[in-house]
Amino acid sequence: MSHIFTITVRTFDGDQNQYRANYTHLHRSLKLNTDVEAIVGGVVKAWYKRDPTIPAALLRMQFHDCFVNGCDASILLDGSNSEKTAVPNLSVRGYEIIDSAKSAVEAICPGVVSCADIIVMATRDAVALGGGGRYIVQTGRRDGTISLAKNVDLPSPSISVADSIKAFARKGLNATDMVYLLEHGKPDPTMDSSLLAALRQRCPRNSSVDSTVNLDQNPLSSMTVDNSYYRQIVRNRGILKIDEDLALDPLSKPTVGAIANGFDFSTRFGQAMIKLGTADVLTGKQGQIRSYCRAINKPSK
Ligand code: HEM
Repeated sequence: MSHIFTITVRTFDGDQNQYRANYTHLHRSLKLNTDVEAIVGGVVKAWYKRDPTIPAALLRMQFHDCFVNGCDASILLDGSNSEKTAVPNLSVRGYEIIDSAKSAVEAICPGVVSCADIIVMATRDAVALGGGGRYIVQTGRRDGTISLAKNVDLPSPSISVADSIKAFARKGLNATDMVYLLEHGKPDPTMDSSLLAALRQRCPRNSSVDSTVNLDQNPLSSMTVDNSYYRQIVRNRGILKIDEDLALDPLSKPTVGAIANGFDFSTRFGQAMIKLGTADVLTGKQGQIRSYCRAINKPSK
């Protein structure tokens, strides 16, 4: 006997911009009404209480997932040569949060909610906890089955604003979306001033040296999600070259100024995140719903 299992999530409906509010799934166990978003939200809140830097971790994870093969959770797959082994991903954090949220959801409704959706929901929840406002996310993404380090082609910290705009355009994001998303937080107020000075020296504008520096001490992670980054970069206080350039390049300068002096950061940032979450998503019968986010499902015999 099957029972109706109602999950209050918003789903893609084939067309990336369409979603319906309720997804009804036939399930062979007890009749339950459950709110998947609340389960994910609860897990994220518990992690946030222990570590208030998780909005930064998850934002970066979603960016690094969606920019490579689309938002298909390919970044989560383990393997000697998988995306997470690529250099730009070595400092990506937050995998355990996604694992926790996935096991909490699987315990109640197995095989329904993809890891790709969990990344997007968890990031949204973390952003809201970090003061960035709450935006509504679409769900219904399916998980990819391919994850290769060689596919990781993320913008380098020394990319020009013009090239960065092109890279974002390839993912369906315009220059304004890019400027909103590049909110790279601000240096940790507790950060050693000589380290900050050293970082600024290592990553100056027009640097001829390799400006890829491993920011081990997480200077970017003490973020509340707000417009203070833009107020910093208009004062030439960006850390990465791209941050500094953003405030100076005529292609992005007007947007940076508007954000620094504006009052609608949360709304516009949320809109850009929603767009990022639609990059090349798998829907319908594409991909799969992984049972465990770090591995593809075993083929059924
Ligand atoms: C041109 C595009 C971008 C470049 C070149 C870039 C570069 C970087 C670099 C070099 C770091 C430091 C990594 C480390 O600690 O080793 C970083 C951190 C970070 N980036 Fe970006 N990024 C870009 C776009 C974005 C976007 C679009 C987002 C958000 C959607 C984002 C969110 C973050 C966050 C939140 C951190 C801190 C992560 C943490 O604390 O764990 N970045 N980025």
